[in-house]
Amino acid sequence: MTRLPLEDEFADVLKKAQRGTGVSIDALARATGLDASEINDWANGRGHPGDDEARAMAVPLRLDPSKFADAAATRWHPDGIELPDVRHHPQSPHPSNGYVFFLTGTMRAALVDPAGIPANLLRVLREGAYHLEYILITHKHADHCDATGAIAKAFPDAKIVMHQADVAAIGSLAEKALRVKDGEELPFGGDAQVRMLHTPGHTDGSSSYLFHSTVFTGDTLFAGSVGGAYGDASTYEDILNSVKTKLFTLPDDTVLMPGHGPPSRIGWEKEHNPFF
Ligand SMILES: [Fe+2]
Repeated sequence: MTRLPLEDEFADVLKKAQRGTGVSIDALARATGLDASEINDWANGRGHPGDDEARAMAVPLRLDPSKFADAAATRWHPDGIELPDVRHHPQSPHPSNGYVFFLTGTMRAALVDPAGIPANLLRVLREGAYHLEYILITHKHADHCDATGAIAKAFPDAKIVMHQADVAAIGSLAEKALRVKDGEELPFGGDAQVRMLHTPGHTDGSSSYLFHSTVFTGDTLFAGSVGGAYGDASTYEDILNSVKTKLFTLPDDTVLMPGHGPPSRIGWEKEHNPFF
């Protein structure tokens, strides 16, 4: 597996925290005594602050000072993770991640986020000769669901699973979608289930799906960052709250498979993600 770079560079983390907290560059400069033009450079990817400067900025931005300083110095990247029952597939032309997971010893499979060129997804599904039970959609953005129609056509028995608040994005297929609620468990053969966790903030209907000890988080939680807050009703506070109450309550060794960037583990995110 190739090592994907972190989804968000230091400048992205800085800008997301600024947008989320409403702290402008001038306000940051006033609060820290740092030079506004220097902060502006860092926010635009030109250079990065030293440890003490990053720690000072973290306070008004409500980030963790040590983890933010580590992000500035690019001191952390998650170790590679490969799982026997999960296949990752790029969703080109989008820069997002999709996944197929399956129940070991069976052909029972579920696909997370049908997006990108349908032939690429169909190749993965047909190579494994999988019986596709579920098409699980994490949220409404096109780079996570624009191939839903093509996959549903190829696998008409697969159930499309999505949260009510985002379901309009799949057009007429919304009628047959299973609109799942927080905590709902979908049977997946034998004793296995897929549990939906409603994690609003990136969008109102953003959903994470837990299978065994792997959680697929869409654009809610990335290795070292979080998604942007683009909800209609939900906010930056909601995304932080979703992570704290729904994802960080999972066991530390739970593998995180995000919608962008490399996989991680819940425990690693608690240790390294500057938003927490
Ligand atoms: Fe998104």
